Amino acid sequence: MCGIMGYVGPREAAPIVVDGLRRLEYRGYDSAGIAVHDGTALTVTKTEGKLARLAGLLDEHPVAGRSGIGHTRWATHGAPSDRNAHPHTDPGGEVVVVHNGIIENFLSLRETLAAAGAEFASETDTEVLAHLIALEYDGDLLEAVRRAVGMAEGAYALVAMCRQEPGRMVAVRMISPLVVGIGDGEMFLASDVPAILHHTRDIVVIDNGEIVDITADGWKIEKLDGTPVERDRLEITWDAEQAERGGYPHFMLKEIFEQANATTETLSGRLLEDGRVVLEDVHFPPGFVAGLDKIWITACGTAYHAGLVGKELFERLLRIPTEVGYAHELRYSDPIIQGTTLTLAISQSGETADTLAAAGLAKERGSRLLALTNVVGSTLSRESTDVLYTRAGPEIAVASTKAYLTMLVGEYLLALAIGRERGVLDPAIDATLVAGLRGIPAKIGEALAAEEQAVVLAGRFAGRDDVYFIGRGLDHAVAVEGSLKMKEISYVHSEAMPAGELKHGTLALVTEGTPVVVVITQGDVYDKTVSAIQEVKARGAFVLAVAYEDDEQVAKHADEVLRIPRVPDVLSPLVSIIPLQLLAYHVAAARGHDIDQPRNLAKSVTVE
Ligand code: F6R
Repeated sequence: MCGIMGYVGPREAAPIVVDGLRRLEYRGYDSAGIAVHDGTALTVTKTEGKLARLAGLLDEHPVAGRSGIGHTRWATHGAPSDRNAHPHTDPGGEVVVVHNGIIENFLSLRETLAAAGAEFASETDTEVLAHLIALEYDGDLLEAVRRAVGMAEGAYALVAMCRQEPGRMVAVRMISPLVVGIGDGEMFLASDVPAILHHTRDIVVIDNGEIVDITADGWKIEKLDGTPVERDRLEITWDAEQAERGGYPHFMLKEIFEQANATTETLSGRLLEDGRVVLEDVHFPPGFVAGLDKIWITACGTAYHAGLVGKELFERLLRIPTEVGYAHELRYSDPIIQGTTLTLAISQSGETADTLAAAGLAKERGSRLLALTNVVGSTLSRESTDVLYTRAGPEIAVASTKAYLTMLVGEYLLALAIGRERGVLDPAIDATLVAGLRGIPAKIGEALAAEEQAVVLAGRFAGRDDVYFIGRGLDHAVAVEGSLKMKEISYVHSEAMPAGELKHGTLALVTEGTPVVVVITQGDVYDKTVSAIQEVKARGAFVLAVAYEDDEQVAKHADEVLRIPRVPDVLSPLVSIIPLQLLAYHVAAARGHDIDQPRNLAKSVTVE
């Protein structure tokens, strides 16, 4: 996820573009840049770091010009650095491009260009687009962009300008969002409405597979095949602050609703049409996977809970003994780790001090270190031998949601990759995983429909002091994360445990009306979980079950059921967590809490 901004009109472009980027910084903030056209030349100014650094550079060296494009970056290809910052140009500086998303076939495009003698100034996929557009250019930017994107595959949005046609911008949307703002003799273009809202409320939304040609006087939309498109304008009525959250009252809710897209991004270019799995930054040496005798997962908080799902998967599917350890405990322990161990360090930020320390210990003991992280160029990613980026985009709310879900997706991809290389993955399971993962973004979309019911149920939970979460196997791993979500934002005490553990003590706390949330999706232990429901019901508990839409049994036992779409049991965590996130969110909202910044907590815990 990155932010794109463009302006063409009678005013100076640079301040307008930088201001728009400031309002898009929630989409990425590891580097920023602009390109401005002064009628004869294009000038690019860009830098690693937050937008304030770019603004400082522009104060020192102002650039004049009436059309410009800009970008605030959340790295996916190439670490955050000056040279990887956008905009990117072709070697002659004729074409300039900013881009949000991923060009999946960029490596093959780059190799073809390199074989023809092209030299690249960055490691990004975007620069390839600038080369292609420049090569295709014969006096008409629109046609050059159309031909170039015809060669690119992926989910992205891009905007291009060229030296020879001042005052013109051409943009394409392939999944990643793009809106045009219509001013009075001026036009704007952005990834999202907040960037342009204080200039105009008159918006045109660009759809997938469309190309838009923009000058100060107007815009023209076509499909990529050249078919003209008529599109109605929208009048935006949100205020600027609401708009930054996409109209959602909190970033947490926005991020919950971004999970289908985030999952698509995480899978993009990794689970290929033919079923192959390509993990671009994971390069195990020959023989390593065959000789692997242990996977050691280390993380904290929500990332640790993602690790609990990983343990279930790796042991069940790969038959590799897997341990999950809190990083703050492991860093002071004496773990049994060696060259035949794969350490999987999971961290959204890639900066959690305890996780870095535990990962460092694993490396010292000779383990190969694989980072599963959301932040390209983070300390964890730099210190690891292999990296799997989750591509969830920046997560602003302290309570992690989309980062967690994409960590799980990363673990499924890893299970497929390792299982195939070891030759241990049952072909039927392999096929189930591939088909199931492909369909998971749509299933996540369906699971989000639980929100309406979560709002109503939240009323029942909001006045309680304690909530219990139970489940078995994968359901237990999800219950633990559901419980953390509940406590960290609603401040209602909650505890999670395997369903079979209740009777060994905690059952003493269950009395009339005690809320117990039961995740019940695993067919092989279904009846056992029903027994646990009966145990708590017999003590007067109010039971809320999270179960498949076609589970006709569960309503006989539970008081309420939050339904999730049917998926193969092995993939259920990818959907069963969603109603729990929504429930926690609405309980916190009902209690009137500061949901995005809960008390006493910080997004990144960079101290011990
Ligand atoms: C909870 C939450 C935290 C983090 C934990 C680790 O919603 O976000 O528990 O998961 O602090 O952070 P990262 O993943 O950045 O290492």
